[in-house]
Amino acid sequence: MDQDPKLKYHQPVMTREIVELFESIDGGVLVDATYGGGGHSRSLLSSYPALEIIGIDRDSAAVARPVPDRVRLHQRAFSEMGELLDELGVEAVNGVLFDLGVSGHQLDTSDRGFSYREAGPLDMRMGPGSPHSADEIVNEWPEKRLAKIISWYGEERFATRVARAIVAARPVSDTARLADIVRSAIPAATRRTGGHPARRTFQAIRIAANEELEEVESAVEIALDRLAEGGRCVVISYHSLEDRIVKRAFAKRAQGCTCPPEFPVCQCGITPSIRLLNRKPLRPSDEEVAANPRARSAKVRAAEKVAA
Ligand SMILES: C[S@@+](CC[C@H](N)C(=O)[O-])C[C@H]1O[C@@H](n2cnc3c(N)ncnc32)[C@H](O)[C@@H]1O
Repeated sequence: MDQDPKLKYHQPVMTREIVELFESIDGGVLVDATYGGGGHSRSLLSSYPALEIIGIDRDSAAVARPVPDRVRLHQRAFSEMGELLDELGVEAVNGVLFDLGVSGHQLDTSDRGFSYREAGPLDMRMGPGSPHSADEIVNEWPEKRLAKIISWYGEERFATRVARAIVAARPVSDTARLADIVRSAIPAATRRTGGHPARRTFQAIRIAANEELEEVESAVEIALDRLAEGGRCVVISYHSLEDRIVKRAFAKRAQGCTCPPEFPVCQCGITPSIRLLNRKPLRPSDEEVAANPRARSAKVRAAEKVAA
């Protein structure tokens, strides 16, 4: 079933803050590494009339839509940003934006299999390059591996029980059946707290299907490498593991010298290559969360390149 035509493709998160963080960008090139419905890109284009955008999205549905002037959109995984920029003959860029996770369109289109609220196929692949389908994970992965991802990526405290229940119910036919199995595996008293009982398990399977954390880990490094001096990298993450990857990658480059404190003078010669624009992540306002509950877990980190 296609997405309900009345629904917006995606409601972008913290747009005002994102536009402000790229205040120095006009006249430059920005990579929107998670183009989605292009909401952030459109706001950036209207605030910065000389800006050019290279959009990336691995999802065929995102790249099938018409794009505004000044946008070149490519279907790639963002970990392939370096190769893409080489192909386009672009050495350095002035900004890179990541708005991680899934779009409203992906969640709301039941035949993509992301939703625990509707029946759909066990798919959850964001694009043709996504390495695993939910069907493979749910019906083929060993119980221990399943339990591990549900615990790590889903932060589900009943991961062992959930994995055991999934394996016992194989073959699992679709998302509605999976949601039922997860629900029954979670103790009745806990089911009433923390939202839908299948939310955390679905999130874990999605992250594993698309190797989302590996993607972020390599793409943030590439983005920082390809920034011109003064260029900015801004990341909106929605999951604590994603945020931790970004925080560490930024901290490593912002720190500079790695000599032990007892060395009287620096021996390593490493100087900071970025400066952090915010020590604590920016969070959405209460008004934004009330208007768009998907903004609830958003955290924004931003850094500026100080030496190319
Ligand atoms: C939260 S949405 C972005 C929404 C966008 N900022 C907007 O305003 O419409 C995330 C998008 O990133 C894409 N995406 C996620 N991981 C990706 C990856 N590793 N490579 C390329 N695109 C990815 C998804 O397909 C999805 O369309």
